Amino acid sequence: MKVDVLLGLQWGDEGKGKVVDVLTPKYDVIARFQGGPNAGHTLEFNGEKYILRSIPSGIFQGGKVNVIGNGVVLDPLLFKEEAESLAASGHDITERLFISKKAHLILPTHRLLDAAYEASKGSGKIGTTGKGIGPAYTDKVSRNGLRVGDLLHHFDEKYKAAKERHETILRSLNYTYDITDLEARWFEALEYLKRFRLIDSEHVINTFLDEDKSVLAEGAQGTMLDVDFGSYPFVTSSNTICAGCCTGLGVSPRNIGEVYGIFKAYCTRVGSGPFPTELFDDTGDRLCELGHEFGSVTGRKRRCGWIDLVALKYAVMINGVSKLIMMKSDVLDSFETIKACVAYQIDGKEVTEFPFEIDENVEPVYVDLSGWQTDMTKMKSEDEFPEEFNAYLTFLEDELNVPIKIVSVGPDREQTIIRYTEED
Ligand code: GDP
Ligand code: IMO
Ligand code: MG
Repeated sequence: MKVDVLLGLQWGDEGKGKVVDVLTPKYDVIARFQGGPNAGHTLEFNGEKYILRSIPSGIFQGGKVNVIGNGVVLDPLLFKEEAESLAASGHDITERLFISKKAHLILPTHRLLDAAYEASKGSGKIGTTGKGIGPAYTDKVSRNGLRVGDLLHHFDEKYKAAKERHETILRSLNYTYDITDLEARWFEALEYLKRFRLIDSEHVINTFLDEDKSVLAEGAQGTMLDVDFGSYPFVTSSNTICAGCCTGLGVSPRNIGEVYGIFKAYCTRVGSGPFPTELFDDTGDRLCELGHEFGSVTGRKRRCGWIDLVALKYAVMINGVSKLIMMKSDVLDSFETIKACVAYQIDGKEVTEFPFEIDENVEPVYVDLSGWQTDMTKMKSEDEFPEEFNAYLTFLEDELNVPIKIVSVGPDREQTIIRYTEED
């Protein structure tokens, strides 16, 4: 079988965790392929709410294998906290979670470097999650990283060399710190990590495929945060796009099946960087309030705005999206008019192709659509959709040229509507 990929098409927080959980019953294996604890994936079911950072969102459904792939950067300490909190709520994951030996480790000094680099950038800071993601990926690419598999061989020497290198940089940035306590807890967490199955995940995943097992790859962040195609330099440090699944799991492009692209019915962004459709008015505040748009992990207020179809079309193209999933439709339930950005006005010209840079010269060009002004949160089938909502779906499908197969009308697992067509 092939690997289906589910990934974010905007600036992250589209609702990936919820939908991976909903789709999990269809799959044997769920695998994360990039990112790390910068992610915060929320799942709600049976009146409980869980936030996952490094652990795949298939972990709650019995009999499924969950894999942390080689493309992920793993902080043992945050991982331990996450796994222990799941165990405390009755979900022991030790038997069900496999970790790639090739996944890179986030060291305590990576977190410090993240903070030091941000401080040195002043007002130009990226607004990272502070989890050491950039420095850990930097070490990977510059061939200085430590991998999970290194735990088994000469780890202390490798750790000491990396720490010394990091400390030299921290001194040059005049960054003062004391990591004695953090480091001690980090080493305890390393021991904890050893109780999990540390595997050659590329072999394991390809064997699963040969055995006709179905695999769902769970993206983190979103396409507009991709290090190559996102709003650089205000991006994360990994390839969040579909291609990242090939490098982050060791899967051939020929073995990619469906590409599920997930987006909010509007748009949000957390951290710094350009966001052409951002709203600074009451409407923006209303989206934030109705959508509870605060970071799952950091609690930071998310910036809110209308849907941006220039960026979304670009994301669909880069990822080869075959099916779309629209989230948080219910947040627009009370709006009289809904706007969608269909082009950018740049230096007096209308542009529909996503440009090299999106900066303050980009003015969104909007079309107005009628709101449905109906509570959709209890709807169970597409037969109940109001006419204006169907018109919004058709408008988006026409613009993006891909069918919207799932619509989410609330945070709970149950508030999910599959749209069937004759082929299904
Ligand atoms: P992820 O990082 O892509 O998994 O998304 P997050 O979990 O960071 O953010 C999505 C937020 O929206 C979470 O608080 C979810 O519980 C919530 N959510 C997901 N789908 C819906 C929906 O259809 N409607 C509403 N109102 N909330 C949703
Ligand atoms: P999920 O998987 C939203 C943003 C940060 C910052 C930039 C770089 O929950 O959708 P980093 O710590 O990665 O170096 O920060 O990327 N960012 C996210 N924004 N959702 C995420 O993950 C994010 N992960 C990173 O806010 O702007
Ligand atoms: Mg999130």
